[in-house]
Amino acid sequence: MKISVIGCGYLGAVHAACMAELGHEVVGIDVDEAKIASLSAGRAPFFEPGLSELVERALASGRLRFSTDLAQARGAAVHFVAVGTPQSHDSDSADLRYVDAAFEAIAEHLAPGDLVVGKSTVPVGTAERLAPGIEAAGARLAWNPEFLREGFAVQDTLAPDRLVYGVRHGDEGSVAALDAVYGAAIEAGTPRIVTDFATAELVKVAANAFLATKISFINAMAEVAEATGADVTQLADAIGYDARIGRRFLNAGVGFGGGCLPKDIRGFMARADELGVGEALEFLRDVDAINLRRRQRVVDLVADAVGGDLSGVRVAVLGLAFKPDSDDVRDSPALDVASRLRALGADVRATDPEAIETSRRVNPDLTFVVELDDAVRDADVVVLVTEWRRYRELTPDDLAPLVARRVIIDGRNVLDPQTWRAAGWNYRGLGRP
Ligand code: UDX
Repeated sequence: MKISVIGCGYLGAVHAACMAELGHEVVGIDVDEAKIASLSAGRAPFFEPGLSELVERALASGRLRFSTDLAQARGAAVHFVAVGTPQSHDSDSADLRYVDAAFEAIAEHLAPGDLVVGKSTVPVGTAERLAPGIEAAGARLAWNPEFLREGFAVQDTLAPDRLVYGVRHGDEGSVAALDAVYGAAIEAGTPRIVTDFATAELVKVAANAFLATKISFINAMAEVAEATGADVTQLADAIGYDARIGRRFLNAGVGFGGGCLPKDIRGFMARADELGVGEALEFLRDVDAINLRRRQRVVDLVADAVGGDLSGVRVAVLGLAFKPDSDDVRDSPALDVASRLRALGADVRATDPEAIETSRRVNPDLTFVVELDDAVRDADVVVLVTEWRRYRELTPDDLAPLVARRVIIDGRNVLDPQTWRAAGWNYRGLGRP
């Protein structure tokens, strides 16, 4: 099929490359010239495992191209809109200016019978609002939320665990077109739910709200564990064996961040308020608050370890990205912890395998070092806040010859306390003795 993908960020760039990989003829469009230049040269403009290789292969096949010119979308039968919906600067609501602009612009280039597919995460009611502009051009609208995780974006897009199509009642044409786009996944037996616009929009934010709640639940248990001497990691293992609960997303630590979970729960609450059902989502305020408290807990543990006063204390911060295998620092707990420590006077040396450049753009005042050894050399405290594999695999022997004092704060509960304590370290995790 001929496909256009409007917006080539974390979502759209991956979607465009994956659609080409599946055999479709794809043009990816973005207003950002640097992004398009990078993608056209076969380089992902951000770190995502496997993406550059995929883009390169798709470009070589002739099935993928990129452009800043929206007119290049003409001739495609399906147009995916995958632009960002960040949190507004002055409220919790999603900022829809990019979505609105993309829909207004694509309407100019549609042919009768085209299908426009919204992929961006939007407040419920957005598709209903945008549909008339698309239908006036004789085209149709569907909403098809995306559930990809950064770090696994390529595999999640090629082999999603479910497909959700929000369409107008009885719009078999849109369903057939989407089935053709996702033929490979459907043949592989991927569950597919056909529903209305509102449900499709809600599925995405409900899923993210549930995941955020699960993480904050275990982090709330960590707070209780800290007050009682219990171990939240064993607690998570024990409750996780209950198949109704499940062990995934029960890792207590410095909490969730990224471009989705934090802003999606806030946007969801704001939308519920507008709809007069704010009370239904009041609990998400606690989910957000528990999550943010964990960042301060890490800072407090660092301060405790050095007797309270952080000024001049050398702190090595391992990790800046909001999760491993990503260079994304949007709402990153790790970068936030580093910034808070610095604000309290600590001499912070922060490192990350991929996220130094993205961090520098957000907080140019922090001291970044590329090499792990340089970060931990002469450190009074080592703080692990993003669980990259190379940090998870650290041993006391790796760090002992470099640090000034043997103090390690494990903000992701990924190190073995016994091993570190046996080697003479003051080890502190979150919610574990
Ligand atoms: C999320 C959703 O998982 C995905 O389906 C949606 O499409 C976009 O938002 P992503 O933002 O890539 O994906 O990250 P995810 O893997 O969900 O992790 C989110 C945050 O939660 C990270 O900061 C991670 O460190 C944290 N987390 C995750 C925990 O603190 N504990 C856990 O047990 C799991």
